[in-house]
Amino acid sequence: MSAVGRPVDRVDGRAKVTGTARYAGEFAPPRLAHAALVTSTIARGSILTIDAAAAEKSAGVLAVITHVNAPRLPYRRMKERPAVDPPSGEALRVFQDADVLFSGQPIGVVVAETVAQARHAARLVRVTYDEARARTVFEPDRATPPSEATAEDGEPGETRRGHAVRALDEADVRVDATYVHPREHHNAIEPHATIAAWEGDRLTLWDKTQWVGNTRAVIAHVFGLPEEHVRVVSPFVGGAFGSALRAWPHVTIAALAARHVGRPVRVELTRRECYTSIGCRPHTEQRVALGARRDGRLTAVVHEATAQTSVYEEHAEETGNPARTTYACPNVLTRYRFVRMNTNTPTSMRAPGHVSGAFAIECAMDELAVQLGMDPVELRVRNRADRDEAQDRPWSSNELLACYRTAAERFGWAPSSWHPRSLRDGSILIGHGMATAIYPAHRSAASASATLLADGTALVRTAASDMGPGTYTALTQVAADALDLPVDRVRVEIGDTDMPKAPVHGGSMTMASVGNAVHTACENVRRKLGANARSYVEALRDHGVDRLEAIADAEPGDETERFSSYAFGAVFVEARVDADLGVIRVPRMIGAYDVGRVVNPKTARSQCIGGMVGGLGMALLERADWDARFGRVMNANLAEYLVPVNADVVEVDALFVPSDDRCFNPLGVKGLAEIAICGVAPAIANAIHHATGRRVRELPITVEKLLA
Ligand code: MOS
Repeated sequence: MSAVGRPVDRVDGRAKVTGTARYAGEFAPPRLAHAALVTSTIARGSILTIDAAAAEKSAGVLAVITHVNAPRLPYRRMKERPAVDPPSGEALRVFQDADVLFSGQPIGVVVAETVAQARHAARLVRVTYDEARARTVFEPDRATPPSEATAEDGEPGETRRGHAVRALDEADVRVDATYVHPREHHNAIEPHATIAAWEGDRLTLWDKTQWVGNTRAVIAHVFGLPEEHVRVVSPFVGGAFGSALRAWPHVTIAALAARHVGRPVRVELTRRECYTSIGCRPHTEQRVALGARRDGRLTAVVHEATAQTSVYEEHAEETGNPARTTYACPNVLTRYRFVRMNTNTPTSMRAPGHVSGAFAIECAMDELAVQLGMDPVELRVRNRADRDEAQDRPWSSNELLACYRTAAERFGWAPSSWHPRSLRDGSILIGHGMATAIYPAHRSAASASATLLADGTALVRTAASDMGPGTYTALTQVAADALDLPVDRVRVEIGDTDMPKAPVHGGSMTMASVGNAVHTACENVRRKLGANARSYVEALRDHGVDRLEAIADAEPGDETERFSSYAFGAVFVEARVDADLGVIRVPRMIGAYDVGRVVNPKTARSQCIGGMVGGLGMALLERADWDARFGRVMNANLAEYLVPVNADVVEVDALFVPSDDRCFNPLGVKGLAEIAICGVAPAIANAIHHATGRRVRELPITVEKLLA
């Protein structure tokens, strides 16, 4: 019986719950010293003086490093900009000058024997500034288009098909509204940490990262080393959601500090520092204007997104893509603009762009359904796109209609009444809402090795990551089938640059990329052994070897140019709102997804439930309270930045519709991760409207906004 498709328990589950799984910050090279950051207290200006005398005299302190005494680092230009870095701008350089570009910028580091000593001494460093007027207010009026590089590689400043403005003017029915979501933070429970250890001019980094290969490349260039001199190890990642895609400044700081004190150094960001040092989802405002015929067919879509970025980099998101791609419409216009602010650069977070764009488009579609007096599911079915009209390509597969059907049926969607406030249970107003989710399926080149061992087990290695979705387990299943071995005879090792190269563990592409490489590596090693080999143990003995290894490189062909590949989903939710107090509960969330073949229904369901809970947070709780006076997040901690806890989550389920996309890749998977959060926030917003008649267009939807 094949392993793929079975709900296999997590192969790393025991290691995780017993604490033997080692995360980056838990490695302990001998003579390890600890670092604490000194961060700027102004949002813009330059450092005038740094008085480190008291810190240097403080107990246990080994060094205080700032731009005054830090070495000038080569910061060599990379031939190719990392795919996870913004296409234009320049990553922050650490301790190379006196400039301050945002509040919370690392401007120094204290190294000491213990974490407590380092953190205490960091507070003793006295800094004076020449403060300049900072841009800390989100002013859409001052927004500017992206540069050419960003437009080409990130989100275009403008896209058009047909004549959207004219079609909007001529439409029978129109919706025109602005949707806002605040800056949000990843808040993985594992804080970011890096341990750096030098041996001569060779550097080992234990780092929380979604891409060991990129961290190696970036740090090698920063220090002017050959890439082979840097090894990056990251076997487990305790959640990241995009925050560990880039090699952030603290990684450089760890390596710089370790070289300075001649000992291994560990940097662990504090929770507060996780709000200034690893990016965030940018504050974004979106105008959506829809035009439609009375039968619901869309005739015009206008989408204008304005998002914050930093003054030193352009982080753009594909916020316009759901507007361009989700529905059939001959006339579409999308625009993207930046508000450049004195903040750390935003970054990818949980379905960047698509989750934001879906919030706006799917709320607008609901507003249109209300105007038309039409079942919101029916409105979406009528506007279903038979092909990807934005890229003008056929889908490699598309089971969106099955998603609507499956989720609606499980939810018990009964389009009996579209009138708001028509369902109630005593003083509780009940609403039902839904939304569509789309997320592009990506695939990149990946490599893996498969080794058969004399004891009849196999070892599979690839430099991929597993930030929680179950990569270890799914790869084990793929290898077990390809090798015709039981799952417990296969061991998978990942997260080390010494292993065959893998792409970023992001953009939901790991299974489509690495999964196929593992599959091919296993086939290759079997072929090497001889087609007729029945028992690996005997065959190895016959060959006179105690191990046999094969490596495979797998990459996409031209199918990525001939077809458009997407994961799809439909989310249905029930919201209950206290008519007097405005308190919102979401007792039920049902999602149905087309993600291609499901390798492991158990981890897949877990992952989707996690993503949907993330969507619940986005809808009702998550918000960075940005204080424009200081350019600072005021609730930079898990007590005041709210995320859903168990008590907020009642019934959540994720279903998978039959799907198998061999057109996209031989394994038939499309990528399962970010699709799960897309569509949740608008489904909740729509359900709240249905319950209360109140259309709240700014997330999170709180009691205050409902009662206002
Ligand atoms: Mo994902 S936001 O590409 O980790």
